[in-house]
Parts: sequence; structure tokens; C-alpha cells
Amino acid sequence: MHTIELKNISKEYNGVTVLNDINLYIQENEFLTLLGPSGCGKTTTLRIIGGFEEPTKGTVLFEEKDITDIPPYKRQINTVFQKYALFPHLDVYDNIAFGLKIKKLPKSEIDSKVKEMLRLVNLQGFEKRSIDSLSGGQQQRIAIARALVNEPKVLLLDEPLGALDLKLRKDMQIELKNMQKRVGITFIYVTHDQEEALTMSDTIVVMDKGRIQQIGTPVDIYNEPKNAFVAEFIGESNIIDGIMHEDYLVEFSGQNFKCVDKGFRKGENIEVVIRPEDIEIVSVANGQLNGIVKSVTFKGVHYEMIIESKDFEWMIHSTIMKEVGTEIGMTVLPENIHIMKKVRAE
Ligand SMILES: Nc1ncnc2c1ncn2[C@@H]1O[C@H](COP(=O)(O)OP(=O)(O)O)[C@@H](O)[C@H]1O
Ligand SMILES: [Mg+2]
Repeated sequence: MHTIELKNISKEYNGVTVLNDINLYIQENEFLTLLGPSGCGKTTTLRIIGGFEEPTKGTVLFEEKDITDIPPYKRQINTVFQKYALFPHLDVYDNIAFGLKIKKLPKSEIDSKVKEMLRLVNLQGFEKRSIDSLSGGQQQRIAIARALVNEPKVLLLDEPLGALDLKLRKDMQIELKNMQKRVGITFIYVTHDQEEALTMSDTIVVMDKGRIQQIGTPVDIYNEPKNAFVAEFIGESNIIDGIMHEDYLVEFSGQNFKCVDKGFRKGENIEVVIRPEDIEIVSVANGQLNGIVKSVTFKGVHYEMIIESKDFEWMIHSTIMKEVGTEIGMTVLPENIHIMKKVRAE
């Protein structure tokens, strides 16, 4: 059974379509991330799942029941917003206990649940602290504790780490992922940061201009991007025009290459995607392609080199360093040549 299902969801604001026929299943205990550039419709999708926004068309199902018209507070779904929205006049304890007090749970039960949540977010002993004495990261952990204490079946998180600096963000990514595993709740997470999505998610939904471009595991999305938008968005790539001559045979840069793709028309114009780390440097004599090193930059674990060939500038990531001006040969394995239809998302 799916925990959440979005069926043909569209959303218009003043006649402008911002979500276009979104179809999506979300499983129990899944960590699913909506990933895409600013303005692509991630927050709107999340708000529709949370019940804060009504779709123009389509239905939202929760455990197979239509909840499209159910208000947010009646959904077993909680939200952690980008801004933490804690109550500034309440201390940490009362912020976390807020929902439980409204539900009129016995004091001892509230007490043990709040303690358990503080342990979960690693802030034991912070009960009496005021909100403004906490750092951004601590406030965000309290916001997460406050949402989780109500034991929702689904937690929605809209760029929850967006306001944190890089180091803290990296730590929190790992913490959040561990928390999600421990509590076993479905997380629907929104980010525009591809690295964050790749690190944390079971499933990534790549969106652009109100449409889903691809749904898959991080490995799928990284290794088998479905179109040039996904390839470009997920990581730096070489994207070059090519022609598919027959199944498993592609031409680009004036050469024929074996590949592992099939099902294209003979002579179809396509785009070829090759990751910078998948191009191997070999001697000029052994190169499928040759080029001149135009620039070299050390990136910490590898060198990034721009190689000028006769009709294209290739980006290579390699632990081998070649001097600027050197001529080199390059090879690519067939499985690292990704063929994509030449339709970019409009
Ligand atoms: N209340 C609104 N009224 C009009 N347009 C909106 C409203 N909310 C969002 N939009 C528009 O919908 C599009 C998608 O927005 P949003 O879902 O916030 O994108 P994201 O979260 O991916 O950055 C944007 O073009 C945005 O300007
Ligand atoms: Mg947003």
C-alpha cells in the first residue's frame, strides 16, 4: 500500500500553470526528495500534500483514501518549514509539548515523550532553554522534534537546512537521515541542492517547470539521467550532439562509438552525456578522441581539466595531471556513454 499518492495533480495561479500533471507514489518509511531549481514547484507540491493548498486538478490519496478536501490538521502529516516557526515565548520543553498539551495527554506521558524527542535530536538537558538562546541548527532540531512528537505518518520538510552554514548542513543531513531510519516515518523532503538529495534520499523526484522529469534512486538518477535537464542538474556533464546509427552504435565528435543504448530511430539526432570522471586519459595513439589540455584546476581529490578537441571542449576529472598544452588521448567505456532523446523540457 502506498502511504501517499498524487494523481494527475495540476495547480494554476491566475491562469498560470505551476504544476502540470504530477503523478507520484510515496511508500511507507521512504525518504523521498523533491529536487529541482527554484520556482519548479517543489513547495507547491509539498503544500498540496500537507493540505495548505488545493490542487486545481487531481487527487491526493493517503493510504488509498482521498484526502484532497481534508484540512491540514486532520491529516496524519506534519510539516517542518524552512523557517523554524517555533514559539519564541515558550521554552524548548513547551515548544515540543505544545501539540500534546492540546491533545490533553496526561502529564507523565507528555514528559516521557518530550524527553524521548530531545534524546532523538541530541538536545538532552535543553528543556528550560529559551528559543532565542539556541543556534540555528539547534532551533531546527527542536522544530523537527516538535513535528515528530505528534507521531505523524508523514513528515514534510521544506529546505529545512537551507539557513544553516555548510558544515552544519552536512552534519544535519546525516543526523536527519539517521533519525528518519530510527523513527521509521515517511519523509518528503524538498531541496534544490543535488548533493543533499543524493546523500539523503531513497528516492529522488527531479522536477523542472512544474513537471516531473525523472523518478529514481540516487544511483539511477546519477548514472542514468533520462534527459539533458536531469543530467545537467545532477552533476557537471559533457553533453554533446550525436547521431544514433543503429542499436548500440552512436556517432559524436565525428567518430563512431559502441554504447549500451537501443530503441532509437536509425539516424536519430540525440544528445550524448558523459560524466567528467568517466573519461579516461590514454596516449594519443590509443585515444578514441584526442585533444589539447586547455586548463587544469586541482579540486581537492582530483584534477579538473578542460580538453579542447576539434569540435568540443571536454571536462575531465582525473587523478592524473597533464600540463596545459599537452596533447592527450581520451577513451570512454560503452556503458558510460548515455544516450538521451533530443527533447529538452520546454
Ligand atoms: N500563492 C502564489 N500565487 C502565485 N504564484 C505562486 C504562488 N505560490 C507559488 N507561485 C509560483 O509557482 C511557482 C512554483 O513555486 P514554488 O512551488 O514555490 O517553487 P519552488 O519551491 O520549487 O521554488 C513559482 O513560479 C511561483 O512564483
Ligand atoms: Mg520552495
